[in-house]
Amino acid sequence: MLANKTIVLGITGGIAAYKAADIASKLTQAGARVEVVMTESATKLITPLTIGTITQTKVVTDMFEPTSEYSLEHITLAEAADVVVIAPATANTVAKLAAGIADNMLTSTVLATKAPVIIAPAMNDNMFQNPVTQDNLAKLKARGFTIVDPAYGRLVSGKTGWGRLAEVETIIGTIKQVLGKKGDLAGKRIVVTAGGTLEPIDPVRHIGNRSSGKMGYAVAEAARDRGATVALITAPTSLPEPVGIEVVPVQTASQMKEAVAKAVAKADALIMAAAVADYQPKAVAEAKIKKAAPTLTLELVRTPDILTEVKGNFLKVGFAAESEDVVANAKQKLQKKQLDLIIANDITSAESGFGVDTNKVAIIDRDGKVDNLPLLTKREVAEKILDKVVELLGKKAGR
Ligand code: PMT
Repeated sequence: MLANKTIVLGITGGIAAYKAADIASKLTQAGARVEVVMTESATKLITPLTIGTITQTKVVTDMFEPTSEYSLEHITLAEAADVVVIAPATANTVAKLAAGIADNMLTSTVLATKAPVIIAPAMNDNMFQNPVTQDNLAKLKARGFTIVDPAYGRLVSGKTGWGRLAEVETIIGTIKQVLGKKGDLAGKRIVVTAGGTLEPIDPVRHIGNRSSGKMGYAVAEAARDRGATVALITAPTSLPEPVGIEVVPVQTASQMKEAVAKAVAKADALIMAAAVADYQPKAVAEAKIKKAAPTLTLELVRTPDILTEVKGNFLKVGFAAESEDVVANAKQKLQKKQLDLIIANDITSAESGFGVDTNKVAIIDRDGKVDNLPLLTKREVAEKILDKVVELLGKKAGR
């Protein structure tokens, strides 16, 4: 989604300026055109040559530099931007922006742009917590700027506190979220489930289903990037928490059922990529079961079927991980669970299904139409599913 977008990256004179090189690099690799504007103090901390080599664009540092293609028309840059992001943003630049001061190329560009602006402050913790900085950030927020809050951790002063530049992934996630606001799922609420539920046997053991959560997280992030408000109900995974998504952690099928029931109020679609355990131990031992006997028999009972039991006027999308008769078995599940779509997931190949970054699926609708997709990345699969969701939501709305 970053491909062919023009991102104006403003770098100001905080010690975290070196991290802007990583941001510039990741955005460039994702296909964005990155136009960089550095304040004079930023150039003391990282050279325009470094940044410009990464972005392969001319780095603008001086408003009056005669050779700059933007020198007389900083408006050009302001108008070209799909989004402006300032990372790191010092207290000084935050204060200037809040006051409407335009005394350098960066502040002038921000004042002149109609594009959304993202500010990622990074500074000493006392400077960050100073009421004047907090007031300035609140003013910018009230004017529609997106603030990526700094992280807690070790600061250059040697102290630990709030003021470190947010993680690069968080900043990039925020850029995607902001760019996606006008996407084809803008105004829609999508609930996604991910991961494999774990059903406890005793305080130290559980039974559960395989799932890394990658497929569900890819759907949630793709929906966010297309403008949806997303709730992600997730069984335990080792994936980082996605930015701009309401994440509801759960462990068991029953907890997932409860969380889904709450989240689907006003939802437009529920997409269940989670591998929900079909059985749970009938009773959970209060104390750790001793390994005395040579065999152990567990009595299992059915878990609730979330997709079948959840009610509401939203699209229901299920997944079916199958190892044989993939499409036929998935079709049966679609019928049985009364779904609008089912994603038949072929788990026979090592490149598809659990844990890997790619997946081979067929998207099947209520009319039995089967769209067999080639092996794709999970993100690409997510986009294909959402294309279909957008189409069905359009039909539902009579468009
Ligand atoms: O997480 P990854 O490592 O990326 O792997 C992704 C995946 C393979 C887990 C995923 O793509 C997938 O296929 N998930 C569905 C797993 C499955 O086989 O589900 P099922 O056939 O047991 O259930 C069918 C549908 O009903 C699913 O949408 C499931 O979420 C839902 N279900 C199942 C049981 C239950 N008690 N309640 C449910 O709602």
